[in-house]
Amino acid sequence: MKTASLPWLVINMAITADGKICGPRASTNTPPDARMARFSSAADHRRLLRIRSTCDAVISGRKTVEADRVDLGPGSTYWQQRRVRQGLSPFNKRIVISSSGNIQPTCHVYQYPFSPLLIATTDAGLERSRPVAQTTDWIQAHSFGKNHVNLHTLLAWLGAHWQVRRVVAEGGGELNDALFRDGLVDELFLTVCPIIFGGTTHGTLADGMGASNLGEAYGLRCVEHQTRNGEQFLRFLKSRPA
Ligand SMILES: NC(=O)c1ccc[n+]([C@@H]2O[C@H](COP(=O)([O-])OP(=O)(O)OC[C@H]3O[C@@H](n4cnc5c(N)ncnc54)[C@H](OP(=O)(O)O)[C@@H]3O)[C@@H](O)[C@H]2O)c1
Repeated sequence: MKTASLPWLVINMAITADGKICGPRASTNTPPDARMARFSSAADHRRLLRIRSTCDAVISGRKTVEADRVDLGPGSTYWQQRRVRQGLSPFNKRIVISSSGNIQPTCHVYQYPFSPLLIATTDAGLERSRPVAQTTDWIQAHSFGKNHVNLHTLLAWLGAHWQVRRVVAEGGGELNDALFRDGLVDELFLTVCPIIFGGTTHGTLADGMGASNLGEAYGLRCVEHQTRNGEQFLRFLKSRPA
């Protein structure tokens, strides 16, 4: 159960009309097509930056930062100024979650020192991620559990050490599933795009273990919906379980 003192956690994702977020997972033999993770419009990208501009920090799973050329930052000066007008620092903090600590140092996100970046890992992962964290003073690694990252502890740490009050998680499906299963998601922004991927190995909004019965399903209520140029922009708040 989430305590009120933890930061407000938002998930923001674009999905196909059949609930997919990307192409077939890397474990299949199909070569990855990076374009399959960028199927939403420029308007959706602006919404992503708008949501980031309301948050102290952005969280992502290791595989997402490795699959996409993302820096998890606020975007242009326009968005940085907007953040300042709202009482936030111009650059949001960044968090990459990795139990294994198998960090690729050449990955795009580790090249941009505009704000602190935390590798949230485990006791074993800390040793493996050390080479990346030790090369700069703006990347740090911390353990949040022996064998798996305790997401409650991580959020509490972000509140206490980085004064994070509102944080947006931007996937992928494995991280989202863990956040839902831990009851940590307060708000969900979804962009439903008019395209179907099909298939059983494509990533979905919430992969991983999922709920094993209806009682464990995550309850949401839709509080905003808007259709623009064929895309549906939805906002949900956490509700009681089904
Ligand atoms: N359409 C969209 O809006 C959207 C948004 C984001 C991502 N995507 C796509 O989603 C795909 C990636 O999704 P994914 O589900 O494969 O991977 P992911 O959730 O991005 O990353 C999975 C990795 O993150 C770490 N991780 C996740 N949850 C964790 C937890 N609870 N505790 C500890 N570590 C955790 C683990 O790293 P270790 O293996 O190092 O332990 C795990 O292997 C990419 O293709 C990306 O393009 C699409």
